[in-house]
Amino acid sequence: MRTDTQQIVRLEDYRPSDFLIDRVELDVGLHPTATRVVATLTMRPNPEGRPDAPLVLDGDELNLKALALNGRSLSAEEFEASPQSLTIAQAPRQPFTLTIETEINPTANTKLMGLYRSGGNYCTQCEAEGFRRITYFLDRPDVMAVYTTRIEADREDAPVLLGNGNPVAGGVVDGSDRHYAVWHDPHPKPSYLFALVGGRLGRVSKTFTTMSGRAVDLAIYVEPGKESRADYALDALERSMRWDERVFGREYDLDVFNIVAVSDFNMGAMENKGLNIFNDKYVLASPETATDMDYAHIEAIIAHEYFHNWTGNRVTCRDWFQLCLKEGLTVFRDQEFSSDERSRPVHRIAEVKTLRARQFLEDASPLAHPVRPTQYREINNFYTATVYEKGAEIVRMLRTIIGEADFRRGMDLYFERCDGTAATVEDFLSAFAEVTGRDLSHFARWYEQSGTPRVTVKGHHDPDAKTFRLDFTQSTPPTPGQPEKGAMAIPVALGLVAQDGSDQDGSDQDDSAQDRSWANAACERLDSRGVFLFDKPQDSITFTGVTSRPVPSLLRGFSAPVKLSLDLPNEELLALLRHDTDAFNRWQAAQTVAMRLLVGLAKGVDAADQDIGALSGALCSFMGRDALADPAFAALVVTLPSEADVAQEIGQDVDPDAIHRARSQMRQRIGRSCAQPLQRFYDALSDSGPYSPDAASAGRRSLRNACLDLLAAADAGTGEALAVRQLESASNMTDRLASLSVLTTLPGAVREEAIARFGDRYRNEPLVLDKWFTLQAAIPEDGTLERVTGLMQHPAFSISNPNRVRALIGSFAMLNQVQFNRADGAGYRFLASIVLRVDELNPQLAARLLTAFSTWRMMESARRAQAEQALRSIAQKPNLSRDVGDIVSRSLEEGGAK
Ligand code: PHE
Ligand code: ZN
Repeated sequence: MRTDTQQIVRLEDYRPSDFLIDRVELDVGLHPTATRVVATLTMRPNPEGRPDAPLVLDGDELNLKALALNGRSLSAEEFEASPQSLTIAQAPRQPFTLTIETEINPTANTKLMGLYRSGGNYCTQCEAEGFRRITYFLDRPDVMAVYTTRIEADREDAPVLLGNGNPVAGGVVDGSDRHYAVWHDPHPKPSYLFALVGGRLGRVSKTFTTMSGRAVDLAIYVEPGKESRADYALDALERSMRWDERVFGREYDLDVFNIVAVSDFNMGAMENKGLNIFNDKYVLASPETATDMDYAHIEAIIAHEYFHNWTGNRVTCRDWFQLCLKEGLTVFRDQEFSSDERSRPVHRIAEVKTLRARQFLEDASPLAHPVRPTQYREINNFYTATVYEKGAEIVRMLRTIIGEADFRRGMDLYFERCDGTAATVEDFLSAFAEVTGRDLSHFARWYEQSGTPRVTVKGHHDPDAKTFRLDFTQSTPPTPGQPEKGAMAIPVALGLVAQDGSDQDGSDQDDSAQDRSWANAACERLDSRGVFLFDKPQDSITFTGVTSRPVPSLLRGFSAPVKLSLDLPNEELLALLRHDTDAFNRWQAAQTVAMRLLVGLAKGVDAADQDIGALSGALCSFMGRDALADPAFAALVVTLPSEADVAQEIGQDVDPDAIHRARSQMRQRIGRSCAQPLQRFYDALSDSGPYSPDAASAGRRSLRNACLDLLAAADAGTGEALAVRQLESASNMTDRLASLSVLTTLPGAVREEAIARFGDRYRNEPLVLDKWFTLQAAIPEDGTLERVTGLMQHPAFSISNPNRVRALIGSFAMLNQVQFNRADGAGYRFLASIVLRVDELNPQLAARLLTAFSTWRMMESARRAQAEQALRSIAQKPNLSRDVGDIVSRSLEEGGAK
């Protein structure tokens, strides 16, 4: 396979660039098939580079038209050019200018990297290595330059011309139907943050006054006619800017901030300096077309990209191994923003659900890698849940360990020291080590060691001594390239809860019974915030003054990204659901009990009838007591772990059909025994008043729709009637889609009719049709694969649009456990064929689809064999992209995690 000979980039081989680029002047003449780019680079040898090195510039599919050094055209003997590189063996040892002219074809660019067209507009994507598809360059993040960009285009075709930084000039090109704009970005930046846009676009805007009183023009550009759908994103941008000033003291630094929404985009969005480019699904929203979850994602991603202006742009990465330095930190910042804007505990639960579903899964797969990888074949394959989500957890743990005040002081020092530089993880940590005087070298292992640590805890109560001891052990399973693991520094936030509800800190959840002596329970190993730093293979802590056997509440707020085993009986866990002061652990307690039962049912160990009864009893009384106090939280409590979660928990010889049956059975049992309260809440929370996407209203809708789902599981007839009524009367997409989703679980003519009508109603709304594709691809029935291949012929589907492909095919592979993992292997063969087809157009998208195979080793043996065959059929293909070649070979490698 081609990838075997592909070269590997290693962190240990990092060395500074031999040359630097101080200034870049770009002149881009936009044309659909023949865009001319003239780059004038002001360069000099790097004093830290090798003194006699040749100048080697990166390229990718480039076509060189002209080359001059200090204004003199170079003759053919003086350089060597290929589509992939441009080499000048005898480069000057003094500052010099290099003028490079290339011609590129944006219409033929289906990889969506570099300059391409989307919906008739021109746009760019340069992270990680896309700038080299525009011109030859030192395309690495530690080469930072000041850019001036002149963009020229047809006035009709592209009335709007945008670049990085501030607009400085513009006008008509005399005697032609072309016009131009000049943009200047005074902040030195790496090439991956370069962007330009040209096209026909509508605009919404407002003025923002920064904390020091500067006026900034904010604008969002969208497809003409959809301007009003950008209002929410614009509002989220303003709130993000205010939040970063208030919480981190960070102010915006240009006169304009532009966001452009495009419909063909490989990822969520991109933080280009002063010119963010977004996948339109993370900008456009109206009550009729977007769900509450869409609104929440828009808010989070607008914030994420804006926050990059400081964590990513002002302080950038030295090399791509440091990707988590900007991504983990920026995810942490957007999570904090969303938590402040919405409900903190509800948001924390959502974060942890994603972390477990995506990152824990990755950590247990052949694709496991450290948050800071040490090598890669293709950097595009490292924009992962591990780098992003686990990267954010590391920052969160750091804050938990050192406390909020020192965390803020450390961030301030980091910004002060690293502003304008390309930094490393070491630079980040050293700021915190310095402000706290702590040695963070053990903590730094979180960046290096992959795999999810397992923490096992046992509790011992001594009634005579009135002590309660907790014995901790930890271990991390082997992962690819890391057979041996060391102990991690794990912050465990914890408390003790009495079975009757009084907390060890003396707080009380239940007036009926109270034991005052709990106020005296103490443990010297906890810090002032109730955190125990567990940093050895084994350790024990002891509480004194504990008069009766308590229930330990461990890992409060999910204080570390670990798997916790605690052998508490179900009744004690259900006491936590009732009494814990920590909302996260209340939710976790119910999930743990549900997971135990689901795993038992799926393995057919025992009927566990009584236990299911106890869980549904606890859920019913929880609903009666607490549901209306926080409906969003209640919706999370009554939602069972997903089939994928259960598969991950079982971990080996997985039978997806058995899991599906187990979960359906549990939903039915809970739906039946809680039918009364469920119906009551369903009615009480009914849709009223105009739609608002705020967290409280969204929470009510989510509880009501969770009730609907369980009611339908309890009784198909009732469910169908309720869902049909809701589908017809809903005033917003959240409720409409939720009812259609419930209907997809109920086979029959009513469902088919509802699906058809929905598809017809939204035939001109591609983002809504994406939801419609997803719902159908997730139907857990035989025949879904045929439905999916049929939908590929739908006029709205396009194999070259990443959103369509992910909505239909990605959802089938990632959400439909039973049908993707069909025992006959048809699901696997289908995905393999799509991956090969997409790879010819868009390797990044193909590689991402292919990661759906990462769970293949967990399956029972027949499915495992089928999956392996499908993977090998991909591996055998000649001319695979580096993206797909890398994922397929790592997926097949032996010796990693099982
Ligand atoms: N840097 C972008 C973000 O997380 C993600 C991205 C990576 C977008 C690569 C496009 C290409 O904010
Ligand atoms: Zn990011």
